[in-house]
Amino acid sequence: MEYTILRPDDMHIHLRQGDLLARCAPHAARVFGRAIVMPNTIPPITTSLGLERYREEILGATSGSGFAPLMTFKISESITPDDVAALKAAGAVAGKYYPRGATTNSADGIGDHRAVYPVLRAMEQNGLVLCIHGEDPAAFSLDREAAFLPVLSEIVARFPTLRVVLEHVSSRAAIEVVASMPERVAATITVHHIFLTLDDVIGELLHPHHFCKPVAKRPEDRDAVREAALSGGPRFFFGSDSAPHEQRAKECADGCAGVYTAPVAMPLLAELFEREFAPGAAAASAPGVADDRPEWVSRLEDFTSRFGARFYGIPLPEDRVYLKRSPWDVPGQIDGIVPFRAGSRLTWSLTA
Ligand code: NCD
Ligand code: ZN
Repeated sequence: MEYTILRPDDMHIHLRQGDLLARCAPHAARVFGRAIVMPNTIPPITTSLGLERYREEILGATSGSGFAPLMTFKISESITPDDVAALKAAGAVAGKYYPRGATTNSADGIGDHRAVYPVLRAMEQNGLVLCIHGEDPAAFSLDREAAFLPVLSEIVARFPTLRVVLEHVSSRAAIEVVASMPERVAATITVHHIFLTLDDVIGELLHPHHFCKPVAKRPEDRDAVREAALSGGPRFFFGSDSAPHEQRAKECADGCAGVYTAPVAMPLLAELFEREFAPGAAAASAPGVADDRPEWVSRLEDFTSRFGARFYGIPLPEDRVYLKRSPWDVPGQIDGIVPFRAGSRLTWSLTA
């Protein structure tokens, strides 16, 4: 059994730097045609020169694959409107808002959101998307996303034409708020937040490879994330937040937050969509276009290959990949990094 789908895009990924990038990026490039690349490197991506150098490094690590990194920069008070215009000219598609101390490499993040309003204004004027890590680190872990929502609302109201993405949405509260907002506000959804609750992190033994920010929450939150992913709502689209860390940085005291999902995301999503929608009659995801694939395949394609591109205003993917019912066993490590679902058997594979 084999189906073709438009090559997926990953609307939120961490590709890292140096040796780690060289090991991880090729796996992402095998699956995704394009990806919104997060700027939380060391040093962070804050200038057009830094952005161009980082893009070159990524292209070098993925050469021959056709992979196109969609670049972002880290928002800070010290960025001027001229810097924003220069970043846009260098190819930035989005700026990323990290609350100070919310996650990996965010000690230089934003304290008071009002302090970056001039940057947000310039982004709005330049048509750049605002990607938000929506957590208030001062709140209790499980409440951090909900505690940030008033800031999200304030930003959305204050900048009436700014496109905003609430990244890696992880709670029912956040999904309801995004759903109630205008069309120019969207959310990305990860694979791990579709599957995990806090019990999968600390419910029995400690599972460091399930530890990420925002932390996986209650069953009702996980269910809300899953429902949003399956809903066919075009403002909920796929962003893996694949965040590789060395095994020793995960399996230790003071372990890093991040789940490495790029190599397994599409097979896991295929299983989920198939289970949810099959057996389905043939369905057309685009009106008037004949589509003899099962409904779940076109719905999956919407989630991973159409909705994100449409929101970002970039062309739909040009090439296609094959989803093949061909079981494979996820290795314990992929180039030294432990992937999500290591050791399990997946039903679907993705091939070029
Ligand atoms: C990310 C990382 O490791 O860079 N970690 C994570 O848990 N998601 C940063 C982020 O997106 O929060
Ligand atoms: Zn991330």
